[in-house]
Amino acid sequence: MNEQTPVTTAPAAKAPKLPNTETVTEVKHYTDRLFSFKCTRPASLRFRSGEFVMIGLMGDVNPKTGKQVPLLRAYSIASPSWDEEMEFYSIKVQDGPLTSKLQHIKVGDEIFMKPKPVGTLVHDALIPGKRMWFFATGTGFAPFASLLREPQTFEDYDEIIITHTCRQADELIYGRNIIESLKEDELLNEVIGEGFWKKIKYYPTTTREESAKMGRITDLINSGEAYKDLGVEPLCPQNDRAMICGNLAFNLELKAMLEAAGLEEGANSKPAQYVVEKAFLD
Ligand SMILES: Cc1cc2nc3c(=O)[nH]c(=O)nc-3n(C[C@H](O)[C@H](O)[C@H](O)COP(=O)(O)OP(=O)(O)OC[C@H]3O[C@@H](n4cnc5c(N)ncnc54)[C@H](O)[C@@H]3O)c2cc1C
Ligand SMILES: NC(=O)c1ccc[n+]([C@@H]2O[C@H](COP(=O)([O-])OP(=O)(O)OC[C@H]3O[C@@H](n4cnc5c(N)ncnc54)[C@H](OP(=O)(O)O)[C@@H]3O)[C@@H](O)[C@H]2O)c1
Repeated sequence: MNEQTPVTTAPAAKAPKLPNTETVTEVKHYTDRLFSFKCTRPASLRFRSGEFVMIGLMGDVNPKTGKQVPLLRAYSIASPSWDEEMEFYSIKVQDGPLTSKLQHIKVGDEIFMKPKPVGTLVHDALIPGKRMWFFATGTGFAPFASLLREPQTFEDYDEIIITHTCRQADELIYGRNIIESLKEDELLNEVIGEGFWKKIKYYPTTTREESAKMGRITDLINSGEAYKDLGVEPLCPQNDRAMICGNLAFNLELKAMLEAAGLEEGANSKPAQYVVEKAFLD
């Protein structure tokens, strides 16, 4: 008699969820170099608006060990501290170890997140002031996407000026969308007060493609053109507080300009008048 192999009807066992993984809930692409995504938030994660965390995907198999380890990179959290979900704004580096893969994530995929937020672009690192300047280039807008949706920003300051310098006009889309969305944000209008967004002065500029305003923000401030366009008084240490996030050369140039205007650099341990963080290494 031929004995038949029994057919198993039990469902395949689901792979166990690895620790520190979150599920992607939304992905939006803006250009061939930029995208944003949202994911679930770990129940225990507390962070201050403006901080960054390490996120990533499982790396390739190491041919020497035969093992896979997560490939992690620093990412500014673009969503505010009160949000139920986490948002990130990302570059796509075609041969970048992480973003060559991360740019292909889809809703339902899992990403790693180390639940240890840190960073200097936080309100706690600044002493009280009247006017806040957020200076960004490229993906350096991300921490300000968080801080622009943080009620404390509007409670602590009379005026918020956000500058964003990019090479091309379409690299400004993400930032512009965030700022536009504030007008309709029911929670913020309720918590901070109807029309709170009128405190914001948005100053987007491009350097390598025609747009409404061209030039590096550093040059536009040094020439006085930015003050004239915005209709504001020049930087002063009594009233102004600032946060900087861009490439290294930009950060250093702006730091020197703020120091020359009399502002001092702050830190979590020693709050002062401005803080700075790199948007990427090098
Ligand atoms: C504190 C901190 C916060 C960061 N926050 C963000 C963020 O919110 N969004 C984000 O996209 N990146 C952010 N980065 C950069 C991020 O950590 C990675 O470098 C980026 O995701 C690329 O990873 P990769 O492995 O593909 O390439 P990497 O090997 O890390 O980088 C390859 C090269 O790509 C360029 N590059 C890397 N990141 C950027 C960038 N953001 N913009 C333009 N050029 C870049 C650099 O020239 C770099 O040498 C942050 C970095 C730091 C230090
Ligand atoms: N953006 C792109 O279209 C593009 C395409 C392919 C590859 N890349 C590569 O990706 C990397 C990052 O490019 P990115 O465009 O995201 O960032 P980036 O090179 O840091 O430039 C972002 C913006 O910051 C400005 N900027 C740079 N240094 C400054 C300074 N010292 N003071 C004031 N403003 C300053 C740039 O103006 P300037 O234009 O005057 O420098 C640009 O408008 C670069 O290595 C680049 O070669 C970029």
